[in-house]
Formats: sequence, structure tokens, C-alpha cells
Amino acid sequence: MGGAPPGRGLDAPALAPAPDNDMLAVVTRAFTSALKTCDPHIFLHSDRVARYAFQIAAELQLPPPGQREIYLAGLLHDLGKIGVAFRTLHKPDRPTPAEWEQIRQHPVLGFQILKDFPEFAEISIMVLYHHEWFNGQGYPDGLRGKQIPLGARILCVADSFDAMTSERPYRPAMSQMEARHELVAMAGKQFDPEVVDALLRRLTTSMSP
Ligand SMILES: [Fe+2]
Ligand SMILES: [Fe+2]
Repeated sequence: MGGAPPGRGLDAPALAPAPDNDMLAVVTRAFTSALKTCDPHIFLHSDRVARYAFQIAAELQLPPPGQREIYLAGLLHDLGKIGVAFRTLHKPDRPTPAEWEQIRQHPVLGFQILKDFPEFAEISIMVLYHHEWFNGQGYPDGLRGKQIPLGARILCVADSFDAMTSERPYRPAMSQMEARHELVAMAGKQFDPEVVDALLRRLTTSMSP
């Protein structure tokens, strides 16, 4: 995976070793360790998405526990991709319609992995809905607007920004400026405009002298 270096000035602290009683962080680290072993590309992407999502949550002045939960959800948002064939996820050309259908299962697969742990109740819902679109044209359930949980709307923007600014086998990475224009163009369609504004403010702040 290419593109600009991870974090690009929007760093959140790496997930520090958790106290023994912080089971949510411990189990998240175990899941991310599994993800890293299965697919290092997705692990690195998820790490960047978690950092962007954390910064957006902070810009929106969510309470610190909420910021932390969104950070953990970012680490886990593509966990379901461990259930999709590696060759499908990383083929050198665009996936076929049948392969897209497999890839589109990953939010539900991630939700299914997490849903039976009450500690992951909120995070599993963010994972399930991180590909919903603000205008209702996303998946898996076609939720729209504020029907989509805020954490999932944040993950959607963070995820898309990282995807746009990262190289794919079948297309080059966008510059950060091109990606910012794309976020604005898709605000109200794919993205919650308030979430887009929050990320743009943070990016602007991080780039000022
Ligand atoms: Fe995803
Ligand atoms: Fe993703």
C-alpha cells in the first residue's frame, strides 16, 4: 500500500498497553493482531482510519470515552475482511461483480464476529454500518442520515479519506488536496457534511505552521 505516510500529522496516541481490567482494549488488540497476521495491508489501513476517526471525534467534541470507542472501532472496522479471500481483496485489477458482492459482505461478517460480546455492542454496530451512505445508497441496510449511528458516519469519512489517499493495485493514490475536494463533493451524498467539516478543520489545523 502506497500513498502518503500514515497519520499525516493527524496522530492519535498508539493504543498503549491497556490495564488488565481494560478488556475492551485487550480484546481489540488480540483481534488486530489476528488481522495483522492475516492481512498486513488491512491492518495498516485500519490503524490510519482509527487515527483519523479519533481526530474527527475529538473535533466534534465527543466525550473522551466515545472518542476512544470510535478509535477502537476504527481498528476493527474491516475485521470482516478476514472472511474474504485474500486474492479477491488484492487482485491487480478491479474486482468482478461477484467479487464485489463478496467484499460487500465484510461489514456483516465483522459484526457477526463481534456481536456476541456485550462489551463490543456499540463498536459492532459501527462496524456493521461503516459503508452506509448519508443519502441512503450505502450498504448493508440502506440507512440514511441520522439513522446511521454517528460513530459509523465518522468511520465512513475516515475510511474513505484513507482509501482515496492510498494507492490501489488498479489506481494511483489521490493527493490530499484532491481527496479533500472529493469529500466536499460527496458531502450530503456519501458523507455526513458535519463530519466532513470536522475532518477538513483538523486537516487544515494540522497543515498550518
Ligand atoms: Fe470497510
Ligand atoms: Fe476500510
